[in-house]
Amino acid sequence: MPPGRPHLPVSTEPPDEAGPSHPAPDGTGWTAKSTAVITRAAVILPWENRADTAARAAEARLAEAVGLAASIGLVIVHTAIVPLRGRRPATLLGSGQAEAQGEAIRAAQVDVAVVDDQLSPVQQRNLEKAWGCKVIDRTGLILDIFGERARTREGSLQVELAHLEYQRSRLVRSWTHLERQRGGFGFLGGPGETQIEADRRLIGDRIVRLKRELEQVRRTRGLHRSARKRVPYPIVALVGYTNAGKSTLFNTLTGAEVMARDQLFATLDPTMRGLRLPSGRQVILSDTVGFISELPTELVAAFRATLEEVSEADVILHVRDIAHPDSAAQRSDVIAVLDGMVRDGTIDEDWPRRSIEVLNKADLVGGIDAVPPRANCLPVSAVTCEGLDALKAEIDRRIASGLELAEYHLPQGDGQRLAWLYQHGEVVSRDDGEALIHVTVRLRPADRARFERLAP
Ligand code: GTP
Repeated sequence: MPPGRPHLPVSTEPPDEAGPSHPAPDGTGWTAKSTAVITRAAVILPWENRADTAARAAEARLAEAVGLAASIGLVIVHTAIVPLRGRRPATLLGSGQAEAQGEAIRAAQVDVAVVDDQLSPVQQRNLEKAWGCKVIDRTGLILDIFGERARTREGSLQVELAHLEYQRSRLVRSWTHLERQRGGFGFLGGPGETQIEADRRLIGDRIVRLKRELEQVRRTRGLHRSARKRVPYPIVALVGYTNAGKSTLFNTLTGAEVMARDQLFATLDPTMRGLRLPSGRQVILSDTVGFISELPTELVAAFRATLEEVSEADVILHVRDIAHPDSAAQRSDVIAVLDGMVRDGTIDEDWPRRSIEVLNKADLVGGIDAVPPRANCLPVSAVTCEGLDALKAEIDRRIASGLELAEYHLPQGDGQRLAWLYQHGEVVSRDDGEALIHVTVRLRPADRARFERLAP
């Protein structure tokens, strides 16, 4: 889980009108929790493929769902893989299975159960009643993760839109019932929660307005980007499948002390930190939300919106778990999403030239020397630190090769523009004459254009 990821606000609402999971001693039915109280969760994977060989795939899928739930601060106290013999309209699971899970859920004092599948509103409601806790499905969980991670205006709007559309599609009948149930908890408090009290028509109106606003934000996207470019260092973005080890790599590479040392980074998002490369060059490492297998199609746009940093990145590190059985398929998924972002104009089509495949978890396959060499790939282990020096050197090389050498003659006394060059580029030489200062500097192309627009 990325550092500094905020934990969920804890609900003080009863989890369900059918019966609280923690009866209060005073008989009011619900104990208001202190802010330090954790949210206890169950993760249940309904599994249709019953072939024996699929057992490993089910375990992997469950591990992914557990990781996702943990990433928003849920504490997992119960997990189960439930083999489905058919999809029951009332509860998805068979009645015996639902009952057995209910017992386990009550015994573990679960506040929220994540069912790693799509649930109809009716199934969700019935399970909430039977289990006496909140129930969310896979889409609800993913929306919550995206909501927490969307940082740009466009990202937040896109996630809110997906959330509202999801809610609207579920408000078939008993809106009042859901309104009461969702109150204070939402899908664990993601965007759109403020709309919970609205009726279907209001949600529709809000969707129309959001779409209009999104259009507006998209039109001015270029302006926003140039504003963000003010961060005076190259950006290195980590992308990859959930659980590939992005956050571990992020932490190992940067180390916590960097944040404390440099004020600039303290003001940045917690998923961005400074990293000094072997050349002495300072860059910003940016963690992103992990890719998720079988992402529901209605969430693809929202997911892309959480990846906006990638469009700013000078170098993209595609982090892969090479020990994972689906490693190759995961790689194709990541590439397909990034290519999709090219089509909708979020990133430039030359992104592959800016990317390095980081083959992580090499320690699990016999070390970096055991990984067959491949172009544009670097084996590493974020845990043993093997290969990290080579990775840093490669990032250095990539950034240097993207810089352009420029020469300027600045009037003596133009301290402001001189300082700008020192801040944004690498000053190679400087010659102070009587009237002019002759500076040779390496700059990113975009910075060079910006400098040349700066009035003397
Ligand atoms: P999301 O936050 O879900 O996107 O995941 P992530 O890509 O940030 O993965 P994270 O860093 O949380 O790592 C997932 C798991 O893999 C953790 O249990 C890590 O300890 C483990 N891990 C990460 N890197 C390595 C590695 O190089 N070797 C081994 N053996 N385990 C690793």
